[in-house]
Amino acid sequence: MSLDAVTLLYLVASVCFIQALKGLSNPKSARLGNAFGMAGMAIAMLTTIALIAARAATLGSNLSLGMGLIVVALLIGGSIGSVVAARVEMTKMPELIAAMHSLIGLAAVCIAYAVVSEPSAFGLETMLPVGNRIELFVGTFIGAITFSGSVIAFGKLSGKYRFRLFQGAPVVYPAQHLINLILALAIVALGVAFVLTRAWAPFIAMTLIALAFGILIIIPIGGADMPVVVSMLNSYSGWAASGIGFSLDNPMLIIAGSLVGSSGAILSYIMCRAMNRSFFSVILGGFGAQAATAGAAAREERPVKSGSADDAAFLLGNAESVVIVPGYGLAVARAQHALKELTDKLSGKGVDVRYAIHPVAGRMPGHMNVLLAEAEVAYDQVFEMDDINPEFGQTDVVLVLGANDVVNPAARTDPQSPIAGMPILEAYKARTVIVNKRSMASGYAGLDNELFYMDKTMMVFADAKKVIENITKALD
Ligand code: TAP
Repeated sequence: MSLDAVTLLYLVASVCFIQALKGLSNPKSARLGNAFGMAGMAIAMLTTIALIAARAATLGSNLSLGMGLIVVALLIGGSIGSVVAARVEMTKMPELIAAMHSLIGLAAVCIAYAVVSEPSAFGLETMLPVGNRIELFVGTFIGAITFSGSVIAFGKLSGKYRFRLFQGAPVVYPAQHLINLILALAIVALGVAFVLTRAWAPFIAMTLIALAFGILIIIPIGGADMPVVVSMLNSYSGWAASGIGFSLDNPMLIIAGSLVGSSGAILSYIMCRAMNRSFFSVILGGFGAQAATAGAAAREERPVKSGSADDAAFLLGNAESVVIVPGYGLAVARAQHALKELTDKLSGKGVDVRYAIHPVAGRMPGHMNVLLAEAEVAYDQVFEMDDINPEFGQTDVVLVLGANDVVNPAARTDPQSPIAGMPILEAYKARTVIVNKRSMASGYAGLDNELFYMDKTMMVFADAKKVIENITKALD
């Protein structure tokens, strides 16, 4: 295969990746975006395999074992990936993404070790030029942090494991920032030693410290900040791949890694803005700890008005305008199709129904958009936070379904609240609010919610799907 052909195919794959990112930015074009991503990855992989085969043929080496291993790896990885992706529930997506990032980090470390141990096998000079040593050192450092950090993020998000480090609550330890600073300085010193000597000792020591560093920077982060961490690790995994791409002189890896790295960084920034948090305060940890404590202290027995699905049906059926606020609970209950049926019925009765989407509602960016798209809700009924917020004051009934933090007025009214300043959907401004959840338990940030105690609010306690189905029946 000629170099021109390789460059052209890599260019086509890169354009596919850019189109994939563009497509994924909107639910309408997301499927097409996914198709572009898959096509780009297939082109990139096949071209790289053909390139390796061509190089081996030029050198007269026997490639059958290597090619056999690649095919076996593709079959095993592809089968596991397809089964896991087909089975995963939308609410478990963040932990799956964290698990996948850990594999990218691990792959970057393994490749870097292979290159350092046998540079000539990768077309590099045996003594490894200084530039390559720097790239490999940085790539391994980022890869190791991505690996161990993602494993911790996976554990925290899944919430299934008893191990202390995997608990959702942040683990804070004395002199946290000082220890991190010392480790960072040690890494720099080891980097200098490796670049000057190309000895294994500083390289291995750096890898071990980076693995510990990944754990130490993620364990103090908890509660509501975990989404940003996952997106930040996504960015890291891209940069790790890109760093290795430089060493392997593979432009495809550099481009794909940079796209993942920069899009992850932009997403982290957008999410921080949506939660009104500075990126550094998230990364330095501690927010979740405050949230959990404040939530526990604030929760007390207070009376709320509660009603049945029939009461809710009466209010909704007699309203002129209804805004639905979907949240994590709706996703857990898998009630999106039932909801579509309910809103169709309300629309049929002449009620103006709209959906309000908060940028961090649910457990991952775009979670609610995906759910509604799955139920084939019309896009023109779905409104982003900034567009719908001015409308709440003129809305008859807001129906909050399994959402909590994203409608918590404390973000506006309580400067001491851990979510102070986080933009919210202004459901509390509507004439009547119906909130469906199963109990008075708090949401992800562990906070009490003043909205539930307002005079205009009626709580309907039960699983979201059941409540929605009962409301729909009662509307007949
Ligand atoms: P939450 O604040 O987590 O509230 C969800 C509510 O749903 C809970 O209070 C829960 O109360 C209720 N619920 C759970 N299962 C239910 C069911 N089967 N039926 C009815 N209700 C059910 O969700 P939210 O308002 O969507 O806010 C999202 C939060 O998650 C934010 O704090 C955000 O920062 C965080 N977060 C966001 C992301 C992204 S990027 N989107 C990722 C991770 C975390 P009961 O237990 O009483 O039913």
